[in-house]
Amino acid sequence: MAQPDPSAHQVLAVNVQKSFGSVQVLRGVDLTVDRGEVVCLLGPSGSGKTTFLRLINQMERLDAGRIWVDGELAGYEERDGKLYERTDKDIARQRSHIGMVFQRFNLFPHKTALENVTEAPIVVKREQPDRARSRAMDLLGQVGLADKADNYPSQLSGGQQQRVAIARALAMEPDLMLFDEPTSALDPELVGEVLGVMKDLAAHGMTMIVVTHEIAFAHDVADRVIFMDGGVVVEQGTPDAVLRHPQEDRTRTFLSRVRHDQERAEETIEQRAIPFAHDERDGAPVPTGVDVADRQAGDDERRSAEGGSSRAEG
Ligand SMILES: Nc1ncnc2c1ncn2[C@@H]1O[C@H](COP(=O)(O)OP(=O)(O)OP(=O)(O)O)[C@@H](O)[C@H]1O
Ligand SMILES: [Mg+2]
Repeated sequence: MAQPDPSAHQVLAVNVQKSFGSVQVLRGVDLTVDRGEVVCLLGPSGSGKTTFLRLINQMERLDAGRIWVDGELAGYEERDGKLYERTDKDIARQRSHIGMVFQRFNLFPHKTALENVTEAPIVVKREQPDRARSRAMDLLGQVGLADKADNYPSQLSGGQQQRVAIARALAMEPDLMLFDEPTSALDPELVGEVLGVMKDLAAHGMTMIVVTHEIAFAHDVADRVIFMDGGVVVEQGTPDAVLRHPQEDRTRTFLSRVRHDQERAEETIEQRAIPFAHDERDGAPVPTGVDVADRQAGDDERRSAEGGSSRAEG
């Protein structure tokens, strides 16, 4: 087989291995992600998905193998066939081209949504504060949160916080976005708004690696689905091939378990759903079948989200 050409891909990983103590977590992962491609990474808990994303973003060091991002070897420089470690500054430069969104949103709790988004451009990129703020407002608009710019994370729902986290990652103008189960910490009814923002991003040509258990999203948005298990890539292909016609038993078992879990989650949403009836006079949806305590709780949330009394994240 011909040698892979690192410059031809956004990400090229060859024989990536990683152990923690005596546990080998990645046993030789090979994969490519092309520019503008959306790759969804699926696999059971412990299969090494997070570890792999962290290696791409140089939050961990690999034991063997190589990862190139945008044609550059991550963490090392190769000269005359020898590897030299990059300087911290050079690693920071490489990492600044990668945006990462975590399961838990990790926003700065004492900064507003706007300040969360402007922080890195001002501190890391030394961007003019005015310019950083105006770009941050555009980004908050892009994720549907222009009106929440001055809210603190505790005044935002989980879905809103995650959308701020996405805007914050985008503020560094990354060439590659890594998402590590961005919706799995959210209440089911908030998942859609975050997936919607990610779908927009994909439609605008962002290169994305998304670790997710959202099979419908993967089917809809991914160009390619990769199934990992036991620290290796077990199967990959188009969403249809992997999700509808998996070739490997391990993929089939995993998918049937995820689907079963999701069906149960959907039943829960249905039980919780509030039917809306449209009020003909002003077109505003009026909740029906909600008891008074529920409605009051909703009002409290809305008030605090509007900038009133703060609410601790549940
Ligand atoms: N810093 C660490 N120190 C020791 N062990 C670790 C560390 N990080 C990960 N591991 C172990 O590596 C294995 C793979 O972890 P990883 O988080 O990559 O899996 P994952 O596929 O993301 O799983 P999940 O779906 O649960 O998030 C697990 O057994 C985990 O306990
Ligand atoms: Mg993980």
